[in-house]
Amino acid sequence: MRAKILSLLRSAGDSYLSGEEIAKRLGVSRTAVWKHIQELRESGYDIVSHSRSGYSLREAPDRLLAEEIRHGLQTQVIGREIHAYDSVDSTNLVAKRLAHEGAPDGTVVVAEEQGAGRGRLERHFFSPKGKGIWFSVLLRPPFLPQEAPKCTLLAAVAVARAMKSFGLKAGIKWPNDLLYQGKKLVGILTEMSAEMDSINYVIIGTGINVNISQDEFPAEIRGVATSLQEMNGEKIPRVPFFRAVLHEFDTLYQLVKEQGFDVVFDAWREFSVTLGREVRVIGVRSGESFTGMAVDIDADGALLVDTPYGRRRVLAGDVSIRPSHIE
Ligand code: BTN
Repeated sequence: MRAKILSLLRSAGDSYLSGEEIAKRLGVSRTAVWKHIQELRESGYDIVSHSRSGYSLREAPDRLLAEEIRHGLQTQVIGREIHAYDSVDSTNLVAKRLAHEGAPDGTVVVAEEQGAGRGRLERHFFSPKGKGIWFSVLLRPPFLPQEAPKCTLLAAVAVARAMKSFGLKAGIKWPNDLLYQGKKLVGILTEMSAEMDSINYVIIGTGINVNISQDEFPAEIRGVATSLQEMNGEKIPRVPFFRAVLHEFDTLYQLVKEQGFDVVFDAWREFSVTLGREVRVIGVRSGESFTGMAVDIDADGALLVDTPYGRRRVLAGDVSIRPSHIE
């Protein structure tokens, strides 16, 4: 009902719509309309009212509300269900629960804040209220389980492209961090449930630091984290940016289903700040470390590193780019 009222107010533009007119069009009482308008105001919508003429929408809030995100979103699969929350433990965990309840391919879970945001390697992920876009996309792709890690590259490219469309140029550090001037803007955590030869679901959790200033980062990541706001010099409206991310994600996902991952690899190489650099790799399980020149990614999305002892193929690991100039 909220969404329907909003859509009527939007189509009226700057004009007023009377409570009676809205009630008639939606087949509800005027009191019900009034209650919904109150709720919308509480959610941050600036709706002015006039005793004779009725209601008019002046401004929508930059809050990650499902109806706001959906407004003008033209995607095929990604965002066909959007679950938006004020506060959750972790959007990945919520997405997992929804997956077990049968949520479809392309379901999106987003929250204003996460109490227990999770990063890679069991790390905590800083996700303060109203300052970022903390979201997960649930996929049920027709790929083999070994292809799932490539979805991480897809997500990284989608965010990098959305940033580019906002005039912001970030680099991707293999496999999944987006950096600006060597500082982290975006982190991605992909989780999967699969059988031997088919995927039940993949959850791609992405955290984008949007409107966070340096002094708001906790001490342990201050100086190594950054945000779109810092990059841009002013705040970025989160809702349109998020729509752009979902749009890029959707486009790539359709292409990958039709043509395979080459399109993602090509785009990934374009944004990469890892290739052509000296890197230090620390193996996720072994803890073993080595250095070498990152030369390419292969058809599995693995990083190829040339060392004095030959070429190494890295499927999972922590990669740091050795200092020179990092984008
Ligand atoms: C990393 O850089 O270590 C990965 C961070 C992933 C964070 C995102 S925020 C949305 C989703 N929910 C989580 O709990 N984690 C991911």
